Amino acid sequence: MCGIVGYVGFRDCSDVLIDSLSKLEYRGYDSAGIAVFEDGKIKDKMQAEHSKPEGHCGIGHTRWATHGEPSDINSHPHGNKRVSIVHNGIIENYKEIKEFLAAQGYGFESQTDTETVAKLLDYYYDGKPLETISRVIAEIRGSYALGIMFRDFPDRVFAVRKNSPLIVGLGEGENFIASDVPAILKYTREYYLLEHNEIAVLSADKVKIYDVHGNMLEKQVQVADWDIDAAEKGGYEHFMLKEIHEQPTAIRTTITPRICEDMVDFSEIGMTDEMLNSYRQIFVVACGTAMHAGMVGKYVIEKLARVPVIVDIASEFRYREPLIEKDDLMILISQSGETADTLAALALAKEVGATTLSIVNVKGSSIARESDMVIYTHAGPEISVASTKAYAVQIAVMYMLAFKLAYAKGKITKDEYVSLVKELKTTPDYLEKILVNTDYCKFVASKLMNASSLLYIGRGLDYALSMEGSLKLKEISYIHSESYAAGELKHGTISLVTEEMPVIAVATQKNLLEKTVSNIKEVKARGAMVVLVCGESLEVENDVADYLIKLPEINDLLMPILACVPLQLLAYYTSVLKGCDVDKPRNLAKSVTVE
Ligand code: M6R
Repeated sequence: MCGIVGYVGFRDCSDVLIDSLSKLEYRGYDSAGIAVFEDGKIKDKMQAEHSKPEGHCGIGHTRWATHGEPSDINSHPHGNKRVSIVHNGIIENYKEIKEFLAAQGYGFESQTDTETVAKLLDYYYDGKPLETISRVIAEIRGSYALGIMFRDFPDRVFAVRKNSPLIVGLGEGENFIASDVPAILKYTREYYLLEHNEIAVLSADKVKIYDVHGNMLEKQVQVADWDIDAAEKGGYEHFMLKEIHEQPTAIRTTITPRICEDMVDFSEIGMTDEMLNSYRQIFVVACGTAMHAGMVGKYVIEKLARVPVIVDIASEFRYREPLIEKDDLMILISQSGETADTLAALALAKEVGATTLSIVNVKGSSIARESDMVIYTHAGPEISVASTKAYAVQIAVMYMLAFKLAYAKGKITKDEYVSLVKELKTTPDYLEKILVNTDYCKFVASKLMNASSLLYIGRGLDYALSMEGSLKLKEISYIHSESYAAGELKHGTISLVTEEMPVIAVATQKNLLEKTVSNIKEVKARGAMVVLVCGESLEVENDVADYLIKLPEINDLLMPILACVPLQLLAYYTSVLKGCDVDKPRNLAKSVTVE
């Protein structure tokens, strides 16, 4: 979590830092701060409303609080007149470092772990920044992306990272550091990726990268394929709404290059049918929305390919001594590619020799780099904390994997395979039709906004989808909600149902329809207001649901791609109508790089 930036060049540094930070707010927005060299001194200004320091070299930070409450005193940068730093990550051994430094006479103002690193840099500083940084990173444990300034080098920004993302942007007469690509897109598309503990030294006209022993390294220039508009709202009121509307394009861009003669082609990652055929079982490990995409994948893979799929929440997987073996495939799903628990699960899978395949949106991110194979989703930058288009493309890739695997296993014929792929290709067109008019979802949201608790129910794929619908609503509208397998309600949860508790029922699976409708009637009989999301051909008696959201019908298996949209819109409009901060819900950050 947290976003860091740094700049050295010819522009007004404060302006660049504040502008770049605004593109990283999705990483945390508890507080922000910058430090800039002004007349050879480090000028450190908390919060943008204070007068800005004038200069051409500086660092900045937007914070998601881990150690210490959100406050000016805990805001970054931290340091003193000699050294100033910004940090994204967590220093696990900060307490012992703090004790050591306190014994040397250092005082501390904040409750942050970061301040100990700043003071440790100061303690070891002997006029040689590279040696000092190497010494400090040898002592600290945990995760860090650090932007560092030393008073003696007023035209330099130093940077180093381990287990937290950091890129070095390469401009003409200016250079940048940033936690993520959108922060630099306005200025350059070229950047270096830093490996663990590589140290970058930036001046206006050059960037040098060293290893911890001081050897200079050659780096490959990466070129971002996201354009600058992708990181702007483009006329929409919120990023979330824009990103919901971008789903048809995101799916097209993700699937089209991987379809050849109406069959799935993953040759870009060297994945053959033989390989796919060889795995004993599949683990899908992820967090939050990405895990929900894994749930959809599980249903589809098991149904079509008849291969067991175990879906795990990454933070649980790690600590339950999972029975994963070298003949297994682990699929890791992550928008950011930096989620700490998912990354740790990946490490565990590699330890036992399992094959790891990641489905990731951010190019060059840690999970992408450390997996054996990576399938990039091409959703473009997702800025809103609530994930929408990333989910859509994650499930699109899971479908492709399921189709390919089922065919490789001989569980579907070539005709069935081709027909499924063809139907997948049509989903963006249907999404476009659904998105033409979102007024009805807004109207239904107005009926939900005063609820204090909601239930989402569904069976099979609809249950997987309900989980995502429920998460979306609660995270941005702050209305408590739970998702339940519809058939499970009567085993306890139905006692909660009253006229005060609206129920959102998802019923897109025809083979389960009768059963789900019975479950809907059960909650209706207890006074619940029911919103039913279903296919357009479903005919239900008038009294089954209060509000019907009907969707065009495609193959049942693919319905989650369409049905996720009304669920996203219900959450979005409920949040808007309640006056919540849609794109930056409280307590959350987009990229969760702490465990
Ligand atoms: O970057 P990741 O996909 O690994 O993030 C995982 C979750 O933190 C994320 O999906 C989260 O649940 C969503 N922002 C919720 O909308």
